[in-house]
Amino acid sequence: MAADRHKFIAMTILLTAFLCFSFFLYSALPVKSSPGNAVADSGKMAWQKYNCNACHQVYGLGGFLGPDLTNVYSIKGEAYIQAFLKTGTTIMPDFHLSGKEINDLTRFLETIDASGRSTQKLL
Ligand code: HEC
Repeated sequence: MAADRHKFIAMTILLTAFLCFSFFLYSALPVKSSPGNAVADSGKMAWQKYNCNACHQVYGLGGFLGPDLTNVYSIKGEAYIQAFLKTGTTIMPDFHLSGKEINDLTRFLETIDASGRSTQKLL
């Protein structure tokens, strides 16, 4: 009888601990705000929306029709990037991006650039 009582107490303690931990975990998830800045985040959304990764790489990962863009911000500069985004070229499509999208994408590429150096060569 005493053993059953101990089992019941142990089960109650474990169940309470499980419920407290689950509550803590699920109230903290999903992450509601990211540590990066909001403008670069919407640049990332535009990057995904227009599927830039189909032709470009970041840290060598992505398509190979266009160049790796990891460090394009520090190597070629903001004006150069924005010129490409405004008009495209004969091989890069013109996505008819809004001014905000162009700015957001530039901030995104700036953030990527600040995250480290890629060994990939730019064209
Ligand atoms: C269909 C393939 C394709 C897609 C999709 C694409 N690009 Fe490009 N991009 C290219 C090619 C090819 C070049 C090189 C063009 C040239 O030199 O004429 C290029 C060049 C660039 C450059 C200049 C890089 C350099 O070093 O000269 C930037 C910046 C760029 N793209 C950004 C983007 C962004 C941002 C997106 C998404 C909105 C995107 N591209 C989507 C094909 C693509």
